[in-house]
Amino acid sequence: MRMFMSVPAQAVAVIVLVVAATGHSSSMALAQAVVGQATVVNVVQAPTASLEKMRDEYRRPKTITFPKDNPYTAAKASLGKKLYFDTRLSAANVQSCASCHSPGFGFGDGLPKGVGNEMKALGRRSPTIINAAYGQIFMWDGRAETLEEQALGPIQADVEMNMPLDKLLKRLNGIPEYKPLFEAAFPGKAIAADSIAKAIATYERTIVSGIAPFDAWIEGNEKAISEDAKRGFTVFNTKAQCSACHSGWNFTDDSFHDIGLPSDDIGRGKFLKGVIKAQHAFKTPGLREISARGPYMHDGSVATIEDVIEHYDHGGISRESRSDAIVPLKLTKQEKADLVAFLKTLDSDVDPTVVPNLPR
Ligand code: HEC
Ligand code: HEC
Repeated sequence: MRMFMSVPAQAVAVIVLVVAATGHSSSMALAQAVVGQATVVNVVQAPTASLEKMRDEYRRPKTITFPKDNPYTAAKASLGKKLYFDTRLSAANVQSCASCHSPGFGFGDGLPKGVGNEMKALGRRSPTIINAAYGQIFMWDGRAETLEEQALGPIQADVEMNMPLDKLLKRLNGIPEYKPLFEAAFPGKAIAADSIAKAIATYERTIVSGIAPFDAWIEGNEKAISEDAKRGFTVFNTKAQCSACHSGWNFTDDSFHDIGLPSDDIGRGKFLKGVIKAQHAFKTPGLREISARGPYMHDGSVATIEDVIEHYDHGGISRESRSDAIVPLKLTKQEKADLVAFLKTLDSDVDPTVVPNLPR
């Protein structure tokens, strides 16, 4: 079982997360880099009873959770950001985490499939790392349990950054300005692989989607989103049953489903051979900042949000593994348009992430 420490995190207009400890230590420093910009909106109307209920289900959390064995520090997040953007973490000095999880593409890469070492296409699309702090399990097939565990994977993978850890430690030790940064983040410790993983994971946890018009509406501002979008929200939660899987403020159940895409990839099924419903099942992506992240799905096979809706309306391939919640929906043209309008209210005003100066 994992233990957590919670720290309040409120996105504010200047893209700064105010992080203060509850319980353990008295206060923590500022963490930078939230994806979006806060839209300051006044509450203009008292909520109805049903809106009150929705608020409970979709309201943003006030905290980012950091694990007990890797608590937040500003020094760690700052070091992690540099490592995240540093191409010297790849053998050929050409790729960083940000090559495939770029702020310019909603922390994905805008491609149907990731492109790795020597321009080789990877088997799956690069997912966003936005709101990874709230994730329970990682990768399309759930093969990583924590961000710390995940971080060293792409560095070493020959198809991605192709960098053996001993070579990486040697290279980082040869960059003098990294030394004091590691010392500040991990006092008294030589530069080590687990420190790299912890620093990168800490930075990733600070990448949280900005406050979107949808959030303002949930907080009671009836004018924050259009009437189309409001109808779309109802369709999302009722007739189209999207919320069966895209649930909660980040619109994911952190679970795995086959939604009937034609890909040969069996996803989660590789680890759960006897489980029929795990075949062709992939992790439900969150839907925040969705416009910036196409093309969609684990294989990048669906180009636009409109095409996503068409897929669900049709229901895709009917096979034993397909989720029971995926059936032909028979949506009207209006309902489809309303769903699209609703999904777009989950985009925040994305403010450019500042690329850090890197140690020499
Ligand atoms: C060459 C492109 C590429 C590079 C470089 C890369 N990634 Fe990824 N990343 C991917 C792809 C593709 C996946 C999905 C793979 C899968 O699920 O099978 C992924 C998955 C992830 C996930 C899981 C997200 C989720 O919600 O499940 C995280 C977190 C992540 N990468 C972080 C990183 C970090 C940190 C680095 C740098 C150390 C990095 N990646 C480097 C392409 C890349
Ligand atoms: C049975 C669970 C389930 C239901 C119901 C469902 N989804 Fe999904 N959704 C998923 C999964 C799982 C994926 C990823 C599938 C894959 O890549 O193979 C996904 C992917 C998506 C994506 C692409 C996100 C990305 O980053 O690639 C969007 C957009 C989306 N769904 C919207 C919707 C909408 C709108 C509805 C209702 C019409 C809906 N979903 C219904 C589980 C579901």
